[in-house]
Amino acid sequence: ARTQDHVRTAFHFQPAKNWQNDPNGPVYYNGMYHLFYQYNPHGALWDVGNLSWGDSVSGDLVNWAALGNALDPTAPFDANGCASGSVTILPDGTPAILYSGIDADRRQVQNVAFPKNPRDPLLREWAKPAYNPVVPLPADVSANDFRDPTTAWVGRDGLWRFAISAVADGVGATLVYRSADFLRWERRAAPLHASQDAVMAECPDLFPVAARGAEGLDASARGAGVRHVLKVSMPDTLEDYYAVGTYDDAADTFTPDEDCGGGDYRRWRRIDRGHLYASKTFLDARRMRRVLWAWVNESDSEADDVARGWSGLQSFPRALWLDGGGKQLVQWPVEEIETLRTRRAAPLQEVEPGGGVREVTGIVSSQADVDVVFEIPSLRRAEGLDPGRLHDPDALCREKGGSLTGGVGPFGLLVMASGDMREHTAVFFRVFRILHEYAVLMCTDLSRSSTKAGVYKPTHGGFVDVDIEKDMSISLRTLIDHSIVESFGGGGRTCMTARVYPEHVAAGSSSHLYVFNNGSAAVKVSKLEAWELASASVNVDDDGGLMA
Ligand code: FRU
Repeated sequence: ARTQDHVRTAFHFQPAKNWQNDPNGPVYYNGMYHLFYQYNPHGALWDVGNLSWGDSVSGDLVNWAALGNALDPTAPFDANGCASGSVTILPDGTPAILYSGIDADRRQVQNVAFPKNPRDPLLREWAKPAYNPVVPLPADVSANDFRDPTTAWVGRDGLWRFAISAVADGVGATLVYRSADFLRWERRAAPLHASQDAVMAECPDLFPVAARGAEGLDASARGAGVRHVLKVSMPDTLEDYYAVGTYDDAADTFTPDEDCGGGDYRRWRRIDRGHLYASKTFLDARRMRRVLWAWVNESDSEADDVARGWSGLQSFPRALWLDGGGKQLVQWPVEEIETLRTRRAAPLQEVEPGGGVREVTGIVSSQADVDVVFEIPSLRRAEGLDPGRLHDPDALCREKGGSLTGGVGPFGLLVMASGDMREHTAVFFRVFRILHEYAVLMCTDLSRSSTKAGVYKPTHGGFVDVDIEKDMSISLRTLIDHSIVESFGGGGRTCMTARVYPEHVAAGSSSHLYVFNNGSAAVKVSKLEAWELASASVNVDDDGGLMA
């Protein structure tokens, strides 16, 4: 018998039903976390005329209670949809929503909304002032290319700013607007950043990070020891890119540290090397960390979405900070995930080289948190690689898949595997020698993830920025949740999210978890912590606990 909805997740954020996409306005307010999100209350597919903001609250980023919609397309300035935006806490403590409305004439414009009753601790109802839009469509921007305002910040001059995506005069740009009162906004002459090609980047996020340490900073933080990150989402490939750089709050311009040629966003670093989009961060003032949310869409057909009655996940919230080297971000699942840990798998040490496979037993592995360290006694067998191959890790992972043999690797995990191995998803590493250095490749191979027809099953790849000669080990953390596999290589330096649709689960069988080594070199599992996770309470109607 087919199980009810084997694709639905147990600890990832989903509304009870229907379509969701971008995270909007995540915020910590009055002791509660809010997650607003792009939501179609009328069905399982995206429908521009029906874009609302769903709203859920949580005390711990893990368990969520659904509130009513915060925004619905009801006013002339958002009659054709309430698209993405952000929340800013004003100096008097009131939160304000800045969002893109698609107006009655189908132009993208920027609106504000405020809590109807600022004393309601849950911010259940939002009022959209009649003076909206606060920013109409500029003359040099086309009607469809002006959206997704960021959380606002304050510059040295005491004025508010927000950034927004646009194609201005034919150039893909992130614009900045400035205001004294949060209502009258003026566009800055120069864009924060412009990309020479005319592609519309979506969902910008500009945020400060500490030059040293993992502590999160407020959006307005500046001065010594503060760096900035600009992140954009590219709709042509559904990929999120970021650069670490300098934000000049006098000119309101951003200069990336690494010169990537022509300012093309697609030469920047990726937030995640797999399947993840429209990410947005917020400062979690409760624990002083910056936390990232992102939309992870479906990889099977729209007919499947309609049949299930829902579509889209949010990635598990990740703390993020600047890596010691200052060049890239590190991301790590928020520690509250540990409250879901139940049974722990039996220990495991040796996995034979040359095709060794060991099962991780004692837990239900379709809802699991796996943390493993692979120790590499010697790099002598590392295969040589042409330096020219460094630019396309996806292709490298496709060619040098997990089931093939190698030198140092492929070794890693086989997750969501059927008993007969016809279905499995491989998350693995391979170490290459490039001239006199070594490079660690991380891959998620989805080619065998499902026997179902019509599923998108790519192979994701990325290099992991670690010094393998010094460490002689590499870590892998993987969160498995029915239809999503989120992996963090090298302590979160390379992240890879994937969607899987295993048919063996649909048919009523359980999934298996293995550690494997198909390389010829020995690899030791020096740490393996695999936990079965309990189901979180995520937007289920019968849960009154949070509201009490
Ligand atoms: C990104 C996006 C945004 C837009 C929203 C509409 O996924 O296209 O640019 O505001 O989705 O749902």
